[in-house]
Amino acid sequence: MKKHMTILVIMIGALLVLVGLITLGCAGTTAPTAPPPAAEAAAPTSPPAEAPTVTTTVPELAGDPVRGGLLYDEWWGVIEADEPTTDQPLWQTQTTNTRAGADTWRCKECHGWDYKGVDGAYGSGSHMTGFPGIYAAKDKPAAELLAILRGSTNPDHDFSKVMGEQDLADLALFMSQAQLDDTELVNTDKTVKGDAAAGKSQYEKVCINCHGPEGNAINFASIEEPEFVGHLAADNPWEFIHKVRFGQPGWPMPSAITNEWTQQDVANSLAYAQSLPTEPMVSGGGLLYDKWWAVIGADEPTTDQPLWQTQTTNTLTGADTWRCKECHGWDYKGVDGAYGSGSHMTGFKGVLSAASMSAEELTAWLTGQKNPDHDFSKVMGEAYLKALVTFMQQETMDVSAHINADKTVNGDPARGKIKFNGTCAACHGLDGQKINFGDASEPEYVGTIAADNPWEFFHKVSFGHPGEPMPAGRALGWSPEDIANILAFAQTLPTK
Ligand code: HEC
Ligand code: HEC
Ligand code: HEC
Ligand code: HEC
Repeated sequence: MKKHMTILVIMIGALLVLVGLITLGCAGTTAPTAPPPAAEAAAPTSPPAEAPTVTTTVPELAGDPVRGGLLYDEWWGVIEADEPTTDQPLWQTQTTNTRAGADTWRCKECHGWDYKGVDGAYGSGSHMTGFPGIYAAKDKPAAELLAILRGSTNPDHDFSKVMGEQDLADLALFMSQAQLDDTELVNTDKTVKGDAAAGKSQYEKVCINCHGPEGNAINFASIEEPEFVGHLAADNPWEFIHKVRFGQPGWPMPSAITNEWTQQDVANSLAYAQSLPTEPMVSGGGLLYDKWWAVIGADEPTTDQPLWQTQTTNTLTGADTWRCKECHGWDYKGVDGAYGSGSHMTGFKGVLSAASMSAEELTAWLTGQKNPDHDFSKVMGEAYLKALVTFMQQETMDVSAHINADKTVNGDPARGKIKFNGTCAACHGLDGQKINFGDASEPEYVGTIAADNPWEFFHKVSFGHPGEPMPAGRALGWSPEDIANILAFAQTLPTK
């Protein structure tokens, strides 16, 4: 969580600067003379200076309406607060929505993604509360909206106990300046008044870098029931519109408002996203192979895996002994690969040749039928074992053509840099140092992993990082050569 916050703080900083720039650019003139590069993303068909929802009049409150939109989504993810555990006091005044705890504190849960509350999409279904919307409140002065958030109309609607002055101001500015009438973009049956072909070019300029050509490089839910961009666009177009306009709380997902997309650009991207497939591109087994309990939300094992006692060379204990990678290697070659020597050596074989085994045989290995001490069915359900089988059959590969035994890489750093800057830099920084995987005394960055363990790097960039929404390179449509190029570039980044 702390790392999310590091990203977040930097992101907010960047957003504030951007919003400041845009406001400056718009203040005196009709159009900014030098729009940021992202402005070029506007589709040629859209009228130039639309985006009427963010007015450029001098606000009576100073703040950031885009940040306000993020707070509306999930305020504690933005301000580094703990998730609430009790119900919001107003929650007990309704009975139809049976959620409890943190969800009851999200503005969107009571007022809707479409800002229309009971008069909109939350007028029926499991999210229905009967509470009013906030869309009409856009015409109230921001100062009055601020007072409402401090409980002026109802003491149970006081958010000043959980959020600071600036947070409430940003929320008020969001409500008065950045709300949008979704009915102009989406019909009640969830079809969109947008042009999917135009939306494709918007998508490919921005979204493709993290979500991939098919929208399935980041899984928002689970391996058992994956959720991708295509799912959300079809199921909840109002949420899609909000998230695309404001971003994702806690993650550096760009805001369409900051990028100066018009409303029509947003609708077009939604129309295109609704055409994306909802099938996964990779099985998710690569994440399980890395650290299965972080993926399935299980407790970390505390004992040693039973087979561990059959070796003595690797002196790790506990959870580590349960990771497939610890026994079979990041290069899938076990004792015949990088773990053939050094502190990780166990002498256990690899799983690369397992690709030629049948699904039945591989399942038999994972359920202990081949060796009772190699039974993972006690800790993982069927869907996960199936993902591991698919991973071993179809997704493992011999990386020796790309990574040499001395850890040097056969790749083109110049090409790798382009992909790194387009995808990785948003979260890891241009120098790979925005997230520290180690600690203050022994920092570990993208550059450190690339230099010390190129096989681990190759695996993680291909399949993602367990429990985090890091995109899977394979689902970004990247070839092994592309990943080797990124690795070659990452080896030029600072390691400490
Ligand atoms: C637990 C449900 C709940 C949550 C969470 C909630 N509200 Fe409300 N809100 C209400 C209810 C109910 C009203 C109706 C009037 C009242 O009782 O104050 C209301 C009224 C309002 C109004 C006045 C609308 C008008 O037209 O006068 C605004 C503005 C508002 N809320 C904004 C927010 C914002 C911003 C958040 C997030 C910080 C938020 N609300 C969170 C339930 C909620
Ligand atoms: C810098 C990387 C990045 C870019 C670029 C990006 N996103 Fe995201 N997006 C994310 C991350 C990270 C999440 C959070 C996933 C999570 O929390 O599981 C996310 C979440 C989402 C969600 C919400 C998922 C949910 O259920 O909460 C949608 C929808 C979405 N993105 C669509 C888009 C679209 C459309 C674009 C282009 C306009 C885009 N994203 C651009 C990284 C990105
Ligand atoms: C504690 C070490 C350890 C862990 C953790 C471990 N394995 Fe194994 N694995 C072994 C050993 C040792 C063998 C050989 C056992 C034997 O011959 O009876 C083996 C055999 C296999 C085989 C058969 C390979 C062949 O060529 O015959 C597969 C497939 C396999 N493991 C996959 C996995 C997967 C997937 C995971 C993670 C869920 C995993 N293993 C976790 C130690 C481990
Ligand atoms: C949406 C944000 C996001 C994007 C985009 C992203 N990552 Fe990550 N990455 C993370 C997070 C979060 C972690 C986990 C950090 C931790 O555990 O401390 C991580 C972990 C890693 C790790 C492993 C660290 C370890 O603990 O071993 C590597 C290596 C890495 N990322 C490289 C990359 C590269 C290269 C790219 C581009 C191809 C990339 N990441 C794109 C968020 C992202």
